[in-house]
Amino acid sequence: MNILVTAGPTREFIDPVRFISNRSSGKMGYAVARAALMRGHKVVLVSGPVSLQAPDGLAVVRVVSAAEMQSAVEAGVDGCDALVMAAAVSDWRPARVHANKLKKRSAPATLDLEPVPDILMGLASRKGGRIFVGFAAETENLLDEARAKLNSKNLDMIVANDVSRTDAGFEVDNNAVTFIPAHGEAMALPLMSKDDVAERLVKWIEARRK
Ligand code: CTP
Repeated sequence: MNILVTAGPTREFIDPVRFISNRSSGKMGYAVARAALMRGHKVVLVSGPVSLQAPDGLAVVRVVSAAEMQSAVEAGVDGCDALVMAAAVSDWRPARVHANKLKKRSAPATLDLEPVPDILMGLASRKGGRIFVGFAAETENLLDEARAKLNSKNLDMIVANDVSRTDAGFEVDNNAVTFIPAHGEAMALPLMSKDDVAERLVKWIEARRK
């Protein structure tokens, strides 16, 4: 299969030295890319700014902003059989990007933000027979919020991720997730390495493809 994976955060610049971002380290998405590669798939990894080494043998497209990630995903989606959106895409960006560093003495008291387009939502009409998997980062009402995203983004599965835990989720090597498929029972996985979560995810995609 050709598998397109996104990973890491995006950065939305305020001025040349400051940006809005989030705590994503990219570890989960990189683990998915590695697992897919190890299981013999062709992988394109669209990566936000992270300090991880991409494995040899896959194509990496490096992006910074959500708009760049959207362009890269849109360029790759037609050629993929499955898309795994593990990236933590910024939901807002500054309405105005300043060309020069804002000085303290003249900094605005508030920052005007505008919403960033939802990448997955924008792909609905191009899904066809492709398998789309999303991740839901939640701090409350985990399963309900994740299910709402599964439905609104027209996904085959969402991986519900409780990011309020300190032993799993953001930045660490382990994760405790629930696989929620569009059809069938939710599967709560015990705490395990992101590599193990990733392998199970790739196997799920392979089974779904059959
Ligand atoms: N996502 C996306 N485009 C965005 C934001 C998110 O494609 N602009 C994708 C993420 O990659 C993930 C899924 O949508 O696979 C859910 O992302 P998440 O951040 O959990 O949810 P949001 O839709 O951004 O909603 P909220 O921030 O309100 O929880």
